[in-house]
Amino acid sequence: MTTQQVDAIQPSEADRNADLVAKAKAWWSTSIIDIQPGIIRIKGEPIENMIGNVGYVHMVWRMLRDDIPSAGQLHLLEAALVSAVDHGPQAPSIAIARMSVTCGLPLNGAMSSAINMLDDIHGGAGEQCLLLFNQLLDAAEASAGEPESVLEQVMAAHAKAHGRIVPGYGHRFHPIDPRAVKLLAMVDEAAAAGVVKGLHAKAGRLIEAHLAGRSSKPVPMNIDGATAVIYGELGFDAALARGLFILSRSVGILAHAWEQKKQGGRIKGPMPPSMGYTYTGPAANE
Ligand SMILES: CC(C)(COP(=O)(O)OP(=O)(O)OC[C@H]1O[C@@H](n2cnc3c(N)ncnc32)[C@H](O)[C@@H]1OP(=O)(O)O)[C@@H](O)C(=O)NCCC(=O)NCCS
Repeated sequence: MTTQQVDAIQPSEADRNADLVAKAKAWWSTSIIDIQPGIIRIKGEPIENMIGNVGYVHMVWRMLRDDIPSAGQLHLLEAALVSAVDHGPQAPSIAIARMSVTCGLPLNGAMSSAINMLDDIHGGAGEQCLLLFNQLLDAAEASAGEPESVLEQVMAAHAKAHGRIVPGYGHRFHPIDPRAVKLLAMVDEAAAAGVVKGLHAKAGRLIEAHLAGRSSKPVPMNIDGATAVIYGELGFDAALARGLFILSRSVGILAHAWEQKKQGGRIKGPMPPSMGYTYTGPAANE
């Protein structure tokens, strides 16, 4: 092949540049937001049309999903987000935020430390709980029966896979979690109005009844369980139940970190130093 023939099949510099630009543009792809000079559109909606016209909860929905929420759906989502904002300075996530501030962390450090521990047992149980509700409802649908008919089988499979603790149930403080009671009542109202189907609420109550009387203390549905009911009824993915809880609790985390910052205090541990703890190691070797 001659040099002229080789040159002829080599891409030109312009073609190479166009290829690089195409690769760079394909590196990130998003259907969420379109930004160009002077233009910001969320899911096609100019931001200036949204500002002043849609609420924050509507914005959360639109960012996470492609459908447009009804007023009834937003009412439920807002209730779930309001319900979990705070559970007092002894809730581990809040305590960590406050302790972090007294150790010198700025608000971002305090918030990330607190959010980092919202996992399977505290705050993150909603995800596993919604997965369980979905398993129960899917099993009922697969058997063309009611959830009652597959409850024992689904709970036995869950216990075998994950042990006897069922996520979304039980509370250290509350014999009955008042937030769960209110949220379920709202789901019932929404189901009666045709906003949701009420299937996740049914699944949640069946599991609560299944757990009743099996332990030394009552194991009622807790906030993670009740918000999982709402997120399931609204059609959110189970993984988002955790993310939405974190979104909600972040408000309380910020408020407590800020309050602690204003109060001052240095290196505050979980208890006043005068309160001891239980030492279980070897006796003093004197
Ligand atoms: C939140 C939680 C840690 C509180 O636990 P607790 O009140 O300290 O209860 P204990 O761990 O002392 O358990 C007391 C009894 O209730 C049972 N129990 C507690 N939570 C249970 C649950 N979710 N499912 C089944 N049984 C449960 C325990 O097995 C134990 O039974 P036993 O005494 O017959 O052996 C616990 O209920 C739990 O892990 N729940 C699941 C995770 C969750 O939903 N987290 C969100 C909390 S808001």
